Amino acid sequence: MQVVVTGAAGFIGSHAVEAFSDAGHQVLAVDAPGRSLAPDVARRTWAEVAARPGVVAAEVDLAVDDLTAVAAADVVVHLAGRPGVRDSWGPGRAVAERDNVTATRRLLAACLERPAGRRPKVVIASSSSVYGSAGRRPNREDDPLNPASPYAVSKVEVERLAGLAADGGLRTVLLRYFSVYGPRQRPDMAFHRFVEAALDGRPLPVFGDGRRSRSFTHVRDVVAATLAAVAEELPPGIAINVGHREHVTVRDAIVMLTSALGVQAEIQRETPVAGDAARTWADTRRARRLLGWTPAIGLRDGLDDQIAWHRALRAMPEEVRVG
Ligand SMILES: NC(=O)c1ccc[n+]([C@@H]2O[C@H](COP(=O)([O-])OP(=O)(O)OC[C@H]3O[C@@H](n4cnc5c(N)ncnc54)[C@H](O)[C@@H]3O)[C@@H](O)[C@H]2O)c1
Repeated sequence: MQVVVTGAAGFIGSHAVEAFSDAGHQVLAVDAPGRSLAPDVARRTWAEVAARPGVVAAEVDLAVDDLTAVAAADVVVHLAGRPGVRDSWGPGRAVAERDNVTATRRLLAACLERPAGRRPKVVIASSSSVYGSAGRRPNREDDPLNPASPYAVSKVEVERLAGLAADGGLRTVLLRYFSVYGPRQRPDMAFHRFVEAALDGRPLPVFGDGRRSRSFTHVRDVVAATLAAVAEELPPGIAINVGHREHVTVRDAIVMLTSALGVQAEIQRETPVAGDAARTWADTRRARRLLGWTPAIGLRDGLDDQIAWHRALRAMPEEVRVG
C-alpha cells in the first residue's frame, strides 16, 4: 500500500514513518521542516527519515503547495500541523490557523478531487484538547467539545472539516491523541523539558502546582493505534480517543521521572498556561472495540525509554546534536 505520512519530520510523524515502512508499506514522507515549532530539530529528524531505505521524502508545504501527488496515495496519515496550547496564545495562533486549518482543508480538498473509488483514506491527528478538562469520569468521544485555547479551537475546526469531507464521500478518521511522550518528544513538551533540566542539574520548570493530570501515552502505543486505524474499516468521519486509560498528575510523574534518573530535583513553578486542561483522561472503549487497541506501555517503562533517548542524544557530537 502507498502511505503518505505528513508531519514526517515531527515527533509522532517520524515514528509513524518507521512503523509503516517496517510493516512493508511504500511510504512517501511529507513535511516542511521550516514550519516546525523547532525547525533545527525537525531538520535533523528529516535527514534521518529521508535516509531510511525505501522511504521517499518530499518537502511540501501543505498550506500552499500543489497536493496532487500527496492525494494520489491509498492512505494519507495526516500528522502535520502546529501543536502547542501555550504557543497558540501568541503569534502561534495565526500559525495554527494556517498549518492546522488551512493545510487540512487543502489536503481534504485535494483528496476529494480524486475520482470516487480512487480517493485515499485520510487518518487525521486531533487532540484531547478538544474536550477541555475532563471531570469525574474519562472523556468519551461523543462528549460535547469545549476547546479552551486557540490551538484547541483549530483542532475542532480540523474535526469539522473532516466531518464535511466524510459527508462528501471521503473516508476520514480522527484520532484524538492524549499527551504523547517517548523518544524524540518535542522540546517544548513537559517531559522533554524536565529530563533536560534534571540532566543539566537545573530545577524542573513546572507550569502551575503540578496537580494537573494527564493520560500520558507512549508514542509507540500512539503509532500502533494509528496503524490499526489505517487497517480497519471504520465509519467515515469517526473520532477515536488514543490515550492511556490512567491519568497521572504531573507531580507523580516527576517522582517517577526523578527516581528513574536517580536524581533529586528542585521544582521551579511557572505561571500556568491559560487553556491548559486541569485533567485529560481518555475513555478507551471505542478504540478497543473498533481498533482492537489498548495502550501497552506503562508510564515508568515509557519514561525509561525517553530518558535513554535523551542520554543517547547527549552522547552525540555537538554538531549533530540539536534539541
Ligand atoms: N504530541 C502530542 O502530545 C500531541 C497530542 C495531541 C495531538 N497532537 C497532534 O499530532 C500531530 C503531530 O504532533 P507532534 O507532537 O509530532 O508535532 P511536531 O511539531 O513534532 O510535528 C509536526 C510536523 O508538522 C510539520 N508541519 C507543520 N506545518 C506544516 C505544513 N504547512 N506543511 C507540511 N508540514 C508541516 C512540522 O514541520 C513538523 O515536523 C499534530 O497535529 C499535533 O497537533 C500531538
